[in-house]
Formats: sequence, structure tokens, C-alpha cells
Amino acid sequence: MLLLAIESSCDETAAAVLADGVDLLSSVVDSQIQVHSPYGGIVPELASRRHIETIYPVVNEALKKAGISLKQLDAIAVTQGPGLVGSLLIGMSFAKALAYVRNIPCIGVDHMAGHLLSIFLGQDHPSFPYIALAASGGHSSIYLVNDPVSYELLGQTRDDAAGEAFDKVAKLLGLGYPGGPIIAETASKGDPEAVSFPRAWLEPESFDFSFSGVKTAVVNYVNQAIQKEKKLHIPDICASFQEAISDVLVEKTLTAAKSTNVSQIVLAGGVAANQRLRALMKSRGKEEKLSVFLPPTQYCTDNAAMIAVAGYHLYQNTEQWPKTIDMDVYSRSQIHF
Ligand code: KG4
Ligand code: ZN
Repeated sequence: MLLLAIESSCDETAAAVLADGVDLLSSVVDSQIQVHSPYGGIVPELASRRHIETIYPVVNEALKKAGISLKQLDAIAVTQGPGLVGSLLIGMSFAKALAYVRNIPCIGVDHMAGHLLSIFLGQDHPSFPYIALAASGGHSSIYLVNDPVSYELLGQTRDDAAGEAFDKVAKLLGLGYPGGPIIAETASKGDPEAVSFPRAWLEPESFDFSFSGVKTAVVNYVNQAIQKEKKLHIPDICASFQEAISDVLVEKTLTAAKSTNVSQIVLAGGVAANQRLRALMKSRGKEEKLSVFLPPTQYCTDNAAMIAVAGYHLYQNTEQWPKTIDMDVYSRSQIHF
């Protein structure tokens, strides 16, 4: 079974070809970082325009790398949401047109489901059920993943997502965009215990997150240092901020696993590419006798391979995918139940 997947929810145009749900034949990602970095964040209109320019070459390259023709495809999976509506529409329209011409199913996939299943693109897989922490630029959520098509939302952010906090703090410190990788790089030269930034644990039984407080604490720390004419040590600030975020993400995920009696934990989403978060989750998981599974970093950030995996499972459960040509995109995740 040959499946083409298309992802265009935010600032990456991506396509991938997956054979029989397990064999990844190609995965192509065109990043728009250079388009948006002069503005310090994503400009939705520019994102849509760039998707229009790149969607055809990206899909073509994915098919070429996989060594297959359009005629051989059995189905197309496409990100339906959440994301920027203008961006989603480019991938969706392209996928629908191809599926219509070839008379094959067009499967709408929730982007978050893709992140939750990205672990199957690596060598080391969990069995079901598992607890997944999905931390990206738009989401910071903990899910109980019961099987490839059913997910229970246990907690989510009440304000900023973890990746959003990384991006905003990087902007404040004048480090550039996107903030996550730059903060991680700068943090590697700093002391994580230099500044004690706050951790928002919220109510003891809550698996929700809140990252706006730590972001404001960094703003206040910087402003006070400037007022007192104290020299700022940027690597120390980055390392301490990264530690505060990682600490909360890890401890809440471990508690969610223990309270649901699930012994396996999976990391997902762009922030899961963070080496400190990965190391802390591994070591704390070991201490708590929980197995921690980490996807390869190229499948943490947005890609179409993960959409292909989620699309394949929906295809196997034909009841569950909106197969009509009139399906629409959506801006907020639909798997929050
Ligand atoms: O999953 P993703 O590629 O896109 C969304 O669905 O949002 O995640 C992008 C987010 C950005 O906020 C970026 O700063 C963050 O993931 N990110 C990181 C790292 N790499 C990407 N955050 C921390 N450390 C990293 N190494
Ligand atoms: Zn994402």
C-alpha cells in the first residue's frame, strides 16, 4: 500500500511516501525559516505564498526520491488542522486535486495525531498504550495514546506553548528566530542553576501547563539587570530558562504516566528535539522505572512522514477518516477529547 502525505500547516512545506505503513521511502521538508526570520516570527500571508511556490516541487521530489509515479499511489493523507488556515488550504487543495484525478482516497489527518505517532518513524517503538508529551510551537499537551487512532487529552497549556515560550524569550534576548534551537545552542555554554526561574506546577492533580510566568520572569530579570547596569550573561539565562521549562514538562509527564498506570512515555513535537529535555526525560524516566522513547530529531519538528503514519492508520480504520472531497481545514486540533 503506497501512501503520499502532505503537510503545510505552518512554515514547512513537506511531503513523504510511506509503503505499507512502516517503510518510509522519502521525506522532503522545505523550511521557510529564511522567509520569516527578518520579521522575528511567522507572517501568515508570506507562509501561504511560499507554500504555493513550493508544494509542487516538494511533492514531485518526494515521489522521485521514493522512485514511484502518481499512478502507483493508493491514497493521499493531508494535514487538515490545526494550523494557519491559509497554509493548510494549499496542502489540502493540492491533495484533493491529486486524489480526485487519481480517484483514490484523500485522508484528512490531525497534525497532533501525526506528532503523537512520529515515534514509529524511529527504530525503538513503544507498544500501546503510552503517554505522549507533544510540545511544539502551538501546543504543549499530554495525551494518553490508547491505539493508533484514539487519544485522550490529559492536560494542555493554559497560555503559551513551550515552543512559543522559547521563541518569545529568544526574541527578547535578541537571539533570532526560531528560538528553540538558538536557545538550546546558547544554553550549552551556560549554567542551568545560575538563575532560579519559576516553575508553574498549578494544582497538584493538574496535567495542564503554564509558561507565560517563566517568560515574564525572564523579561523582569533582564529589565532589572539593565536598570542596575549589571552585565547580562546570556548563556546562563538561556540554560536556566531551558531548565525551568524542561523540569515542568518532564515532571508532569512522569506524574501523568504514574497516575494512569502506563509505563511508557513518548516525546513528540518540535521542542522534543531539545537535547536537555531529551536527556532529562531519559534520566528521570529511568529513576521512576518508566520506559522513555524518543523519536529521531528530524521527525520531532514538522514533517510529512508523521502525517503519513497517522494517515495510514486512519486508512486502515476506514470509518474514521473524512473521505469526502468537500472536507474543510480547521485551525484548532480536533483530537482534544
Ligand atoms: O512541531 P513544530 O516543528 O511546529 C509546530 O507544530 O509548532 O515545533 C516548532 C517549535 C518552535 O517553537 C521551535 O522553537 C521549537 O519547536 N523547537 C525547539 C527546538 N527545536 C525546535 N525548542 C527547543 N529546543 C529545540 N532544539
Ligand atoms: Zn507541529
